[in-house]
Amino acid sequence: MQIPRHLAIIMDGNGRWAEKRRLPRILGHRKGVESVQRIVDDCLDLGIGHLTLYAFSSENWGRPRDEVDALMGLLGNFLKKELSQLQERGIRLVAIGELDRLPEATVKILKDIIAKTEHNTKMVLNLALSYGSRNELTRAMQSLARDVAEGKLRPDDLSEQDIDARLDTHDIPDPDLLIRTSGEMRVSNFLLWQIAYTELYFTETLWPDFSRDELTQALQAYSNRQRRFGLTGAQLDGTADSDGEGRH
Ligand code: FPP
Repeated sequence: MQIPRHLAIIMDGNGRWAEKRRLPRILGHRKGVESVQRIVDDCLDLGIGHLTLYAFSSENWGRPRDEVDALMGLLGNFLKKELSQLQERGIRLVAIGELDRLPEATVKILKDIIAKTEHNTKMVLNLALSYGSRNELTRAMQSLARDVAEGKLRPDDLSEQDIDARLDTHDIPDPDLLIRTSGEMRVSNFLLWQIAYTELYFTETLWPDFSRDELTQALQAYSNRQRRFGLTGAQLDGTADSDGEGRH
């Protein structure tokens, strides 16, 4: 089985998981945190190098106040409990998004864990928090525009690498595989620049029910894909003639 270097997940369906059981939505999120803990262990076990989880989007701030507060509470508790687990397992925590919009206490714990796990090398766990891709790209463009205005960069010299370097993900490879749970077929403002050549995998399973089995199925599907990055299959398997045409 092919193991992606970077797996990204849109963890969707917590609310529906709860509503189906006539439970408050927050219980779905609580179950969702249990799935997070399981999946982190599974990914480490499988040798996945980077795992990015879409935990809270820029748009999620618009949800009812009590749901936002409850999600922030879950995040705070998760982080408090997680430090020892991350250290024990050699996992490095990083985060992307407008972190300063999070509650002050959460930002403090987050920054503390990021600093303390900085030298862990077994896996990178990247939490997307208060994250939106258009917001990230806008901040990157602002930084580029400042450099142009100050004469540090000429517009014609601007490269894809210059844009990459200003994204929150600048030191993380692009995702190889993106999984979205709960049957929704969209990317919802997640890593729009970075997923240009990412394989997409959608499952009907709601995030609280996402299991190791489901993860294995997604990895099997990924293993069967041929990633061509705009080239032909023949070019990639070495059967192409010098003009790029496949011989077989
Ligand atoms: C989508 O479910 C999920 C979220 C908005 C947040 C994901 C958060 C967690 C799994 C818990 C917190 C995370 C960490 C890392 C501690 P939804 O509410 O949109 O579900 P619905 O589409 O069924 O309503």
